[in-house]
Amino acid sequence: MDSPVSDLAGQLRAARRVTVIAGAGLSAASGVPTFRGPGGLWRDFRPEELATAEAFERNPRLVWEWYDWRRQLISACRPNRAHEVLAAWNRRFARFALVTQNVDGLDERAGTTNVLRFHGSIWELSCFKRCEKAPESWRDDTAPFPELPPRCPHCGGLARPGVVWFGEAIDPGILQASREALACDVCLVVGTSAVVYPAAGLVLEAARLGAFTAEINPEPTEISGELDLAIAGKAEDVLDEVERLLSL
Ligand code: OAD
Repeated sequence: MDSPVSDLAGQLRAARRVTVIAGAGLSAASGVPTFRGPGGLWRDFRPEELATAEAFERNPRLVWEWYDWRRQLISACRPNRAHEVLAAWNRRFARFALVTQNVDGLDERAGTTNVLRFHGSIWELSCFKRCEKAPESWRDDTAPFPELPPRCPHCGGLARPGVVWFGEAIDPGILQASREALACDVCLVVGTSAVVYPAAGLVLEAARLGAFTAEINPEPTEISGELDLAIAGKAEDVLDEVERLLSL
């Protein structure tokens, strides 16, 4: 009998349009802690307690300390084998899209060009009050910031990280492009606990549109039972093995 990995490789061999939906597990082997796994809690706060506009208004310094910690940590990390394989798929398939919930930028560093940043980027900042003079967002790689919280260089008010917080809408352009990418031959979900919506619902939409759906995760998730294939394994190992089979 075929193994799940060779089953996935077979589906990909016949595919022209491939979409990958990724979460924190993709970057775990790079040393970026996942949100709901070991090392994910920062000073005992859950992400839902810090990643909100209300938390920021209450205590911008505390929220920025968390992001400043993650920015420092990520700046010392390198893309891992899983990011590299996805970059190779970006070149291999006629149409490839990576819808990522990750804000770390490791996919771009690995060479993937068609990245849809569903939850924004930790390397972008914007003016919290959306002052008229500031652009919508600007890139700032400073890590650590010499002073927290960082300020909007245009109005002197608070700057905020360019990430999507709980209760905020996904960028409409990104949402639209992600929905379009769900019309594909294979939709693969990698390294997400699939508990944060609307990201978690995307693969089910791809299934409704006729895609073959598969998951790579060492743990079963909320959606494992609803997909065509659930591969129990780490992204860096399974993607490496699939790529090896595709290259034979
Ligand atoms: P989670 O921390 O919720 O889930 C990480 C998933 O990765 C878990 O299901 C793990 O089993 C799996 N995992 C761990 N190591 C892995 C590996 N080496 N290979 C593959 N999978 C592995 O992270 P997300 O699902 O990404 O939102 O979290 C979703 C959102 O919640 C994040 O984007 C963030 C957070 O709050 C915002 O910042 C808005």
